[in-house]
Amino acid sequence: MPAEPIEDIWVYERVPGDPWWRDAVVYQVYLRSFADGNGDGVGDFAGLRSRLPYLAELGVDAVWVTPHYVSGGADGGYDVVDFLEVDPSYGTVEDVRALVGDAHELGLRLLLDIVPNHTSDQHAWFRRAVADPTSPEAARYHFRPASEEPPNNWQSMFGGPAWSRTPDGRWYLHLFTPQQPDLNWDNPEVQEHFDDVLRFWFDLGVDGFRVDVAYGLFKDPAYRDNPGIYSPSLFGHGPEQAMTTNQPQVHAVWRRWRAVCDSYEDGKILVGEVSLADLDEVGAYARPDELHHAFQFRLLKSGWDAAAFADTITEALTAFDAVGASAPWVLGNHDKTRQVTRYGSPARARAAALLMLALPGSAYLYAGEELGLPEASVPDDARRDPIYFRSGGRRLGRDGCRIPMPWESAKPSTGFSPAGSADPWLPIPADWPALAVDRQLGDADSTLTLYQHAIMLRALHPALGSGRATVSRAGDVIRVDLVARHSDSSPITCWINMGTSPVAVPAGRVLLASSPNADGPADGVLKLDADAAAWVTN
Ligand code: GLC
Repeated sequence: MPAEPIEDIWVYERVPGDPWWRDAVVYQVYLRSFADGNGDGVGDFAGLRSRLPYLAELGVDAVWVTPHYVSGGADGGYDVVDFLEVDPSYGTVEDVRALVGDAHELGLRLLLDIVPNHTSDQHAWFRRAVADPTSPEAARYHFRPASEEPPNNWQSMFGGPAWSRTPDGRWYLHLFTPQQPDLNWDNPEVQEHFDDVLRFWFDLGVDGFRVDVAYGLFKDPAYRDNPGIYSPSLFGHGPEQAMTTNQPQVHAVWRRWRAVCDSYEDGKILVGEVSLADLDEVGAYARPDELHHAFQFRLLKSGWDAAAFADTITEALTAFDAVGASAPWVLGNHDKTRQVTRYGSPARARAAALLMLALPGSAYLYAGEELGLPEASVPDDARRDPIYFRSGGRRLGRDGCRIPMPWESAKPSTGFSPAGSADPWLPIPADWPALAVDRQLGDADSTLTLYQHAIMLRALHPALGSGRATVSRAGDVIRVDLVARHSDSSPITCWINMGTSPVAVPAGRVLLASSPNADGPADGVLKLDADAAAWVTN
């Protein structure tokens, strides 16, 4: 088929001795929903420890665990009361130490999640700041004097104004819920505290952090109005949020944190959530002395559309390559409708996974995507996400992608909790036992097996996950040619057919396909189903 290369990009290529993270496959564990060890219906460290062998067998390089700190419970753990303590529902600091030990024995790295943009309103600093406007703690947040109207037009990303009042009438800033007051990063005590937090967990053996809202932290010092209003349908924050996101001072913080990482010899890393629309701006966060990885969410926010996928891949590779960074790819996380539902079918989610796992850079998987879990429908009275409540139910929120993992089809709570436990904190849909891990393990056609094979092949073939990518598109079909520069192994082509009818593509040998391919390859031609992807070689 005619397919003109639209871009030919040399990017990072793995060579022996390279840092582990540049082309790593990282698995995101939503801690509350992964595995419940103590039977209270909430996932915890004991549960996660017991399931580490599953992750090792899946073949991932690292595990990222969502916030584990003592929390006010207003935003799934992203409202932290104490950055140096584990929430009792998850376990203890000693459990983290033990988890790191187990993970390392299995060859897995462990990343935690750090939340520097805000604390909980239950944090000792904020309580003191509310009680005493003249306290040093008050200077660590953004307070404005009492007035009739809020200080400016800034909006919470979860809906409603970004300002709430203290009992004495002052306004305080919260870009998320009122229970998440924003920290003032111009305050040196804030900066110093987070150095200590990093070191505390690094000293326990933790290998790195995913950094929440890494494009945030600083705000316009004059508190000027934002030119526009953020909409979750945008690719990310842009000029309309010029006063509350992407302030230039933030880069100095990442250089400071990078220096902390580099003071350890065993390769600590930082992975930033950089939810900015402009990919060059995202790339700036991944300069060599800043974050190791900067997430861009454009692919995650693209619909099932070949042009959008091909353009995003090309632009992202170019933007990261310009600063010498490897590209982190992500199709799903705890904030986004699951791929199966978002793209419209399990077949499409499987195809997208093969595309992602072929691309040069690192790949981030969200727990349950390897099982092909769909977004769950959650009864309104079971919902927990503040987005649902703050939007008056107009936005359903993120509970549907945070349902506990189904492990064993025949067990109560599908094996998420031990027998005789409390109900899971979010209800597991009645038809999920069919998707449970025990049903998929060893089944050649299962999505879990597809992921296992893809990750294994990626580890074996230098051209997968690193090297040169040539991206081309003809109509609804994208072709990515992958070549390893420093090895004589065969080039690999990843094809994805995002159209509605099968296409014939040239192929010598199929390494892996996301759909059964009864018709190929024959005479050097493979019939690629609609909504399917394949890795082929000569
Ligand atoms: C990030 C997290 C999200 C959280 C928000 C506020 O976007 O991914 O889950 O609600 O930050 O901390």
